[in-house]
Amino acid sequence: MNRLRHLNRSTSLLVLLIFGGCAELAYQHMNDPSRDVWQQPKAVIQALNLSPGARVADLGAGGGYFTWPLAEAVGPEGKVYAVDINETGLRMIEQEAKTRNVSNVKPVLATPTDHQLPEPVELVFTCDTYHHMSDRVAYFRSLASHLRDNGRVAILDFHKTGFFSGILGHGTSKELVRQEMNEAGYRLVAEHSFLQDQHFQIFAVSRP
Ligand SMILES: C[S@@+](CC[C@H](N)C(=O)[O-])C[C@H]1O[C@@H](n2cnc3c(N)ncnc32)[C@H](O)[C@@H]1O
Repeated sequence: MNRLRHLNRSTSLLVLLIFGGCAELAYQHMNDPSRDVWQQPKAVIQALNLSPGARVADLGAGGGYFTWPLAEAVGPEGKVYAVDINETGLRMIEQEAKTRNVSNVKPVLATPTDHQLPEPVELVFTCDTYHHMSDRVAYFRSLASHLRDNGRVAILDFHKTGFFSGILGHGTSKELVRQEMNEAGYRLVAEHSFLQDQHFQIFAVSRP
C-alpha cells in the first residue's frame, strides 16, 4: 500500500513535469535506479526471451530506461529502435549511447499515429505508453506489417488503480489491452504476473 502511494506520488510528479515542459527532469526521474525495485527490468528482459541479433522497437522509449537492457539482450549484431514522439528523450538517448559507446541503439522520432520504423522488427516492446496512445486498434493493426515472421508485441502498463492510474487514466486494465489487441488482429501468447503494479502481456499476429 505504501509502495502504491509512493508510485502515485511519483506518477503525479511526472505528469506535472511533462505538462510543465520539464520533460528532461521527468525522464531522469523515470530512469532513477530506485525504480528497479518495483520494475524488475532484469526479469522483464528475461521474460521477453530475445535472441542475439534481434531487431526490437522500444515504443515510447522515454529517457531510455528499457532501451539499454534491451540493447544488451540483442547484442552488437542486434538493433534497438528507441521510438518516441518526444525529442527531449530521444536526445538524451543519443547522448547516453555515445557515453556508453553503444552502437546498436537508434533513436526514431515518431508521430502519435506513425512509429516511423525504418524496417520490420521481431519485437515491439512498450512500457507505460499504451495508455497515452489514441486509436490504439488502428495503430497496432497497421503495426502488424512492421513485424517480422513470428513477431511479437509486449505491452506493460499500470493497472487501473488509485488516483493517477485509475481516475486520471494513467493506466489500463489488462482486459482492455487484450480486447483491443484482439480487435487489431493479435492473440495473447504469454502473460506475466510478477510485477505488482503493472500488467505484462505478449501478443502475436493471429494468422488465419
Ligand atoms: C510514461 S513514458 C514511459 C517511458 C519509458 N517507456 C519508461 O518505461 O520509462 C511514456 C512515453 O511514451 C511516449 N509516447 C506517447 N505516445 C506515443 C506514441 N503514439 N508513439 C510513441 N511514443 C509515445 C511519450 O512521449 C513518453 O516518452
